[in-house]
Amino acid sequence: MDQEKVIVIDFGGQYNQLVARRVRECNVYCEIYSYRTALDQIKAMNPKGIILTGGPNSCYEENSPTYQKELFELGIPVLGLCYGAQLMTHVLGGRVEKAPVREYGKIEVTVDQTSPLFMDVQQKTICWMSHNDYIAQTAPGFSITAHTADCPVAAAENKERKLYAIQFHPEVLHTQEGTKMLYHFVRDVCGCSGTWRMDSFVENSIAEIREKVGNGKVLCALSGGVDSSVAAVMLAKAIGSQLTCVFVDHGLLRKNEGDEVEEVFGPNGPYRLNFIRINAQERFYRKLAGVTEPEKKRKIIGEEFIRVFEEEAKKIGAVDFLVQGTIYPDVVESGLGGESAVIKSHHNVGGLPDCVDFKEIIEPLRNLFKDEVRKAGLELGIPEKLVFRQPFPGPGLGIRIIGEVTAEKVRIVQDADAIYREEVDRAAETYAKEHGEPAPWKPDQYFAALTNMRSVGVMGDERTYDYAVALRAVNTIDFMTAESAEIPSEVLQKVMSRIINEVRGVNRVFYDLTSKPPGTIEFE
Ligand code: XMP
Repeated sequence: MDQEKVIVIDFGGQYNQLVARRVRECNVYCEIYSYRTALDQIKAMNPKGIILTGGPNSCYEENSPTYQKELFELGIPVLGLCYGAQLMTHVLGGRVEKAPVREYGKIEVTVDQTSPLFMDVQQKTICWMSHNDYIAQTAPGFSITAHTADCPVAAAENKERKLYAIQFHPEVLHTQEGTKMLYHFVRDVCGCSGTWRMDSFVENSIAEIREKVGNGKVLCALSGGVDSSVAAVMLAKAIGSQLTCVFVDHGLLRKNEGDEVEEVFGPNGPYRLNFIRINAQERFYRKLAGVTEPEKKRKIIGEEFIRVFEEEAKKIGAVDFLVQGTIYPDVVESGLGGESAVIKSHHNVGGLPDCVDFKEIIEPLRNLFKDEVRKAGLELGIPEKLVFRQPFPGPGLGIRIIGEVTAEKVRIVQDADAIYREEVDRAAETYAKEHGEPAPWKPDQYFAALTNMRSVGVMGDERTYDYAVALRAVNTIDFMTAESAEIPSEVLQKVMSRIINEVRGVNRVFYDLTSKPPGTIEFE
């Protein structure tokens, strides 16, 4: 992609993807690389600016992630955030120490409005702080541009060399004017003109795909999720009937989802693509029988998916290209981009079917964040209902059923989940109609899971011994961290009562209050 770009160097902090997303919201393309990336490689990318992220270490300790001094001598503007700010100071001859007072949370910061980063920021502004160390003395040539009651250097800069250090996190929304600061860095200091836009991305991608594919044959595994749907429609627009989509129904989809996918992409849908649906439910349940260990379940589902797909691909014969709906967070989280640890295996990346006879892989969304994939979907004219579908994991309900997966348990969790989503959606719509604004409690992701716990209950004078369903609802900006959402209790009461009455095999409903960390969003 030949365009202006800013590079985020990842030092292992939790907000790294957020930094890149905020930069892209300023219409500037941005990629994340590990701090281990060689200087020559960075130079070769010819970035317009470099941002150093936060991280959990102390920069003055031996073996902490660092970067060579020459990075700051390229003449390319550098912005250090939190750990990045401290590292810049440390490497350039300033002093970083353990702070006498640890700052955490929303803190009032006083800024110098003559700094290019703060020119239209309020003199006293609320910022998100999270640090144990602090800059005790700025590096030579730097002047202090912000401070707090406890932190003498909340920001510093060397304007001539275009080096900027910020102790707080402008990328986090709690920093009220953070986006402005990042905008000033990438647009004013780095001089990016802001050419990263979804309409031109879609247009260019279609043209690129057309050129690359020529009159070749393309195969796409369609899951019905947002990513593979957007990828498929983009391909369909580019090459029409040269594309064949294979949809494997593994029996772990949400209620009625298989039919909904077929409605959109099948022969009666709006796109002229070859669509093959494989109903492989029984096969997956057989493989999963007796398996309880979460990672093993994930592996089995991922591998079986590939086997089924391969078999179908063999029937189709040799194809030239295979499409994958990989998106940028998959790339970063799989350790291919930044520094994030792999906590769960996301099977979209790395699990390529090597026996399918194809020449090349096409990953049209590989550089996009989820919100950008959605924007691209809207640009492509995909119905909003599909574009704004909740994220759904590849292994599907397999990881929302704790313990062994059986057809019966799948039915229970599908029915409970459908009721839960229906009631939350209805209540949120009613709220929006009555108040003229979206319900503030509407969660970003909400679903039911089946605990493996059975307990005693009483129903119509009869003793029951049935399963407990857990309701999960989280608010999150990036799915890397999340808070449990506060759905009004009358909505939850209704969900509970409907589930107990309508879903056979359930006699108890729990609401999960756990945030991430320490929990994860999914149960397995
Ligand atoms: P966790 O459970 O890791 O979930 O907190 C974070 C987000 O990722 C989704 N998720 C997955 N998506 N394949 C996927 O495509 C997976 O294996 C997978 N596991 C979790 C999850 O729904 C949430 O939005």
